[in-house]
Amino acid sequence: MNLRAKIAPSLLSADFARLEEEVKELEKAGADWFHLDVMDGHFVPNITFGPIVVEAVRRCTSLPLDVHLMVSKPDLYLEAFARAGSTFLSVHVETCPHLHRTVETIRKLGAKPGVVLNPSTPLVCLEHVLDEVDLVLLMTVDPGFGGQSFIPSMLSKISSLRKMLDERGARAELSVDGGVHLGNIREVAKAGATVFVAGSGILGTDDYASTMEQMRKEILIAQGPGGRDETERASTLG
Ligand code: DX5
Ligand code: ZN
Repeated sequence: MNLRAKIAPSLLSADFARLEEEVKELEKAGADWFHLDVMDGHFVPNITFGPIVVEAVRRCTSLPLDVHLMVSKPDLYLEAFARAGSTFLSVHVETCPHLHRTVETIRKLGAKPGVVLNPSTPLVCLEHVLDEVDLVLLMTVDPGFGGQSFIPSMLSKISSLRKMLDERGARAELSVDGGVHLGNIREVAKAGATVFVAGSGILGTDDYASTMEQMRKEILIAQGPGGRDETERASTLG
């Protein structure tokens, strides 16, 4: 298991009138990656932005850009998002009838392929692509909006995916997206996530640096030596 945790603020919760400032502030505050949510108003009931904004963010930072495509026909836009400077380019399995081909195309375009599962989509859908991808993103809310509540039954799904990845020695990052905040990030880390996407959980707080620092501490408690025992001890101590 790759223990190096990454915190990926989701720009969906940013102030878009001050996007460059937000990106720079988050970078200074300790962000590892930026998560960018592309929504088409068809696959999900909300519309956000396209490659032009990804390209603008690319010019503001050299950190990895984790682009999450929530669009009905992602194959039509892969080239545009790769050109815009996506580091990771992730597609929903629910939108890709030829997933293997899509993943190969993303890699050929020079981006790192990722696959995303909605909460109700079973892990078995990943079985035949798991060794081909750099990232698996588990949605822990139904996608479309920031600020929704983490679906508790997703914790066991994260653990099962962790087991699947470890058993086959797969190198993909295990990312979790939706309703992640300081109050539950320890549980999410304990279940085996390595990338923590958080929109309102970071951008909805007053001090991004302090929030991310505390998140990192929670992750370390969950992942650190003694792992579970230390977690239990810390919660006993309040
Ligand atoms: C939801 C998006 C998420 C969203 C998360 O459809 O994919 O990335 O920004 O927002 P929070 O962390 O507020 O749930
Ligand atoms: Zn997302």
